[in-house]
Amino acid sequence: MFGGLGFVTVTLILACCKDISGQSLGFGKCPSYPAMKKLDLRKFEGKWYEVERSFYMMEMFASCTSLNFTATPSGTLKVIVKHINRLSGNPSVSLGTALPVTSGGAELNYRGDTRLPSAVARMMPGSGVYRVLDTDYDNYAILWSCSNLGIMHADLIWVLGRDRELPVQARASVYNRLSELKLDSDRLVLTRQKSCPVF
Ligand SMILES: *[C@@H]1O[C@H](CO)[C@@H](O)[C@H](O)[C@H]1NC(C)=O
Repeated sequence: MFGGLGFVTVTLILACCKDISGQSLGFGKCPSYPAMKKLDLRKFEGKWYEVERSFYMMEMFASCTSLNFTATPSGTLKVIVKHINRLSGNPSVSLGTALPVTSGGAELNYRGDTRLPSAVARMMPGSGVYRVLDTDYDNYAILWSCSNLGIMHADLIWVLGRDRELPVQARASVYNRLSELKLDSDRLVLTRQKSCPVF
């Protein structure tokens, strides 16, 4: 019975989102895109803006998203995520920690900092493993995450920039890299970084 229910859910998700999200949902397990061999957390730290991303229901109403990473002596990154809720206009700030899955590696396990037990925290939106597919540290970073959903998977791409807009050269590098990885850049939408307040 529950198996049937799961199937219905998947069918509903398919029916609802396939048209809107384009290729976010795929059949089978998550593909494995290679993360960078090494990620220098010191060079990666500081402020990044979300410049483009693939469609993501949870973030549909967020704009002016920025991330501030701070490397800690214990080898993790403290993360401060800020965005403006597009409906209410209210700013939102969330804190989290990203722990490299292997020391020096570019696969980061992100958890929101919460008082909830870790089993619950794992289920919170935003928690999960993020791969840094590429970055030049100074202009752009490409992040990718994927969840297995039974017979389907859903993956997400983010392009971060050190500025609210990517310089032309950096944008070309990002699109070249995505095409080398066979990630469809048509999935990306520009995110709102216009008239953002300082907060
Ligand atoms: C990022 O966060 C750190 C730690 O809270 C803070 O010291 C720093 O000023 C922030 N950087 C920016 C650019 O907001």
